[in-house]
Parts: sequence; C-alpha cells; structure tokens
Amino acid sequence: MIKVSDLKKEFIQGQERTEVLKGVDLTIEEGEFVAIMGPSGSGKSTLLQLLGGLDVPTAGNIVINQQQLAQMKEKERTIFRRKYIGFIFQNYQLLPTLTVEENVAFPLHADGSLTKEKNQMILELLDSVGLKGLGRKRANLLSGGQQQRVAIARALVNNPAVLLADEPTGNLDRNKAEEILVLMSKFNRENKQTTIMVTHDMFAAGFADRIILFKDGVIDQVIARKDNDYAQYVANFMA
Ligand SMILES: Nc1ncnc2c1ncn2[C@@H]1O[C@H](COP(=O)(O)OP(=O)(O)OP(=O)(O)O)[C@@H](O)[C@H]1O
Ligand SMILES: [Mg+2]
Repeated sequence: MIKVSDLKKEFIQGQERTEVLKGVDLTIEEGEFVAIMGPSGSGKSTLLQLLGGLDVPTAGNIVINQQQLAQMKEKERTIFRRKYIGFIFQNYQLLPTLTVEENVAFPLHADGSLTKEKNQMILELLDSVGLKGLGRKRANLLSGGQQQRVAIARALVNNPAVLLADEPTGNLDRNKAEEILVLMSKFNRENKQTTIMVTHDMFAAGFADRIILFKDGVIDQVIARKDNDYAQYVANFMA
C-alpha cells in the first residue's frame, strides 16, 4: 500500500549540496507497523516528511493508496495529507494555549464546522487515549506523556490510513514511553492504520513488525521481529 522507489532528496544551501536520501526503495503493507532506526543525520526524518507530503523529493516515486504523491502539486498534497496522513512528533507540537479538545479538533476545521457527531467522536477518542475528563484543560498544563496522548488523538481524528511518528517517545521516560507505544500498537491493530515510527530506542522498535535500518541515506537492512536474533542484530548495527 506504500511503495517508495529510488527516492532521492538533496538540499541546496548556497553553494553547498547535501544529498540526504540516495535512492530509497521500500514497500510497506497495509496495516503494518514499521520502525525506522539509524544514526543521527542518516535521513530518517527527511524520509518521513516526504512520505507525509510535507516536502517533495528531488527524484523518485512515492505511491500511497494508489496515489502518486511525488508528482502532486502543493494544493493536492495538502488535501492528500489531510485525508490520509496523521503525524506525531517528538515534541508533541500542540497549540499550547488551546484546550485539549481544541487541539484534537484542529484538523477537522479544514472540512468546515464541528458537528455534534464530530464533538462526540472527539470525546470518545480522548477516552480511548486515556484522557477522559481532561478535554477542557489547556494543553500546556498537561504532562509530557499526556501531551503525547493528545497528539495521538489529534493525529487519528481524521482516521488516516497512515500514521507517521518521528521519535514519539523520545522525550518520555520508559514507563510513559511504553504507555504511548501500547496505544500506538492498539490503534495499529484495531484501525489497521499503517504505522511508521522513527526511533532511536530498541525498546520502542520492538513494538514494530519490521525494523528498517537506515544508513547514509539508504536502507542498509530490513529485519522482521520474528527473526531469531534481531535484537542482537540491531544492537550491533546501532553500536
Ligand atoms: N531543510 C533542510 N535543509 C538543509 N539540510 C537539511 C534539511 N533538512 C535536513 N537536512 C539535512 O539532512 C540530513 C538528514 O537529516 P534528518 O533530519 O533527516 O536526519 P535524521 O536521520 O532524522 O537524524 P536524527 O536522528 O538526528 O533526527 C542532515 O544532514 C540535515 O542537516
Ligand atoms: Mg530525525
């Protein structure tokens, strides 16, 4: 359902050209939970941005839900993103002065005003991420773990086909991280949302079906959780 072929991205700043993605080929099945790991600066976030239509590749193709993303014009990409993509970031990126409910409702405003049904759906979503009763609280008054739950609810409010998460547990301690990962796995299983998560943390990657090991702008290895010695393999790679 996601097919990336020979994807390249370079950034040009003044005289300097940086080739960040050097030909990425990747197929991800519908409903799969994939982790992307690799050294800092290897291009993981760049790949995620391209998959989410936040930026455009220099060359290559991205097909998501039978749609050619790389060729879309900006307006088309925006519509595509709203319809198919949910994003979660390491630093939550909530609007701090809005309430929890307002943050979750934010993506819905693009399709007009909030209906009774939509408001009900937001309440149910908050309940399902463990934030029942906190909807009227200002987002910046919540703890980190709670803020990331709000971010998950916001990412899921449009029921996107694809959930992209860039180090979603990077700012959280182990217990809070586990709660977030359990939630993400639950939604991945129940909603069949294809989930792609960048992480530096082996514990987090252990929740994924497959781990993509990224190095210098290309995929170095792909390993499945069911492979016997995958933990050791990843540890060696990251060392
Ligand atoms: N908008 C940009 N303009 C210029 N260079 C960029 C831009 N975005 C990223 N880069 C460069 O691309 C390279 C890869 O960055 P990227 O953020 O994708 O790495 P990453 O694998 O996510 O690293 P980290 O693990 O530290 O988050 C870096 O050298 C970075 O400086
Ligand atoms: Mg990054």
